[in-house]
Amino acid sequence: MVKRGDLKRDRFYKRAKEEGYRSRSAFKLLQIEDKYEVIKEGDVVIDLGAAPGGWSQVAKELVGEKGVVISVDLQRIEKLEGVESIKGDITREKETVSAIREELSPERGGLVDVVLSDASPKLSGNRDYDHFCSYVLSKSALNIASALLRKNGNFVVKIFQGAYYDKFYGDVKAKFRHTRAYSPEASRKRSAEVYVIGKGYKQKMPSSVITASINSKGVKSNAGL
Ligand SMILES: C[S@@+](CC[C@H](N)C(=O)[O-])C[C@H]1O[C@@H](n2cnc3c(N)ncnc32)[C@H](O)[C@@H]1O
Repeated sequence: MVKRGDLKRDRFYKRAKEEGYRSRSAFKLLQIEDKYEVIKEGDVVIDLGAAPGGWSQVAKELVGEKGVVISVDLQRIEKLEGVESIKGDITREKETVSAIREELSPERGGLVDVVLSDASPKLSGNRDYDHFCSYVLSKSALNIASALLRKNGNFVVKIFQGAYYDKFYGDVKAKFRHTRAYSPEASRKRSAEVYVIGKGYKQKMPSSVITASINSKGVKSNAGL
């Protein structure tokens, strides 16, 4: 449990206030970006578990005027200049993908450049239970990324360490050319969180192609969600 006094003394908390970021988490994404360069100017970026919006602010700065940022959270996100917000539950993967696609311009073929997820469950204090809930959110983020990313797109996802961590890391590794785990300096020392970074999504056919191929074989599948 973080004490209010600790929070006040925390240098990233102070810097977030000074620099106009909505959360100290903004510095985690800045540190990930410094090391791995996942977002570039003009990109379309999806930010899952985005409230109050620190990561979306950083993503918007990185993509610039021509880029697009779409945020999703259970909670309402206060309006951010140049960011589209969706109120929704990322574990409802099909609904989330459809809601995001409605915000994309048609010429993108329903695909995006980057998917981020800093989604966290409400902490219960039971480390195993919290890890499992975090695993469920991370797995949904990976499924959503698999439905939306263009070929060679990038993915950043938070997961709490625990029994399912290795399995999850392997699932990401299977889909991306380069996979790394990273704990940014801005993560609290006592936190079990780690960020898995997948760069270079291996394959993505536009969902229309997948649907056409499924239909022509008369096979029902949820491929591409
Ligand atoms: C650590 S906060 C994200 C902070 C954010 N990256 C920032 O910089 O402001 C985690 C967020 O995950 C969201 N979340 C948890 N479960 C979710 C779910 N099933 N669907 C969507 N968002 C969820 C929470 O509502 C919370 O806002």
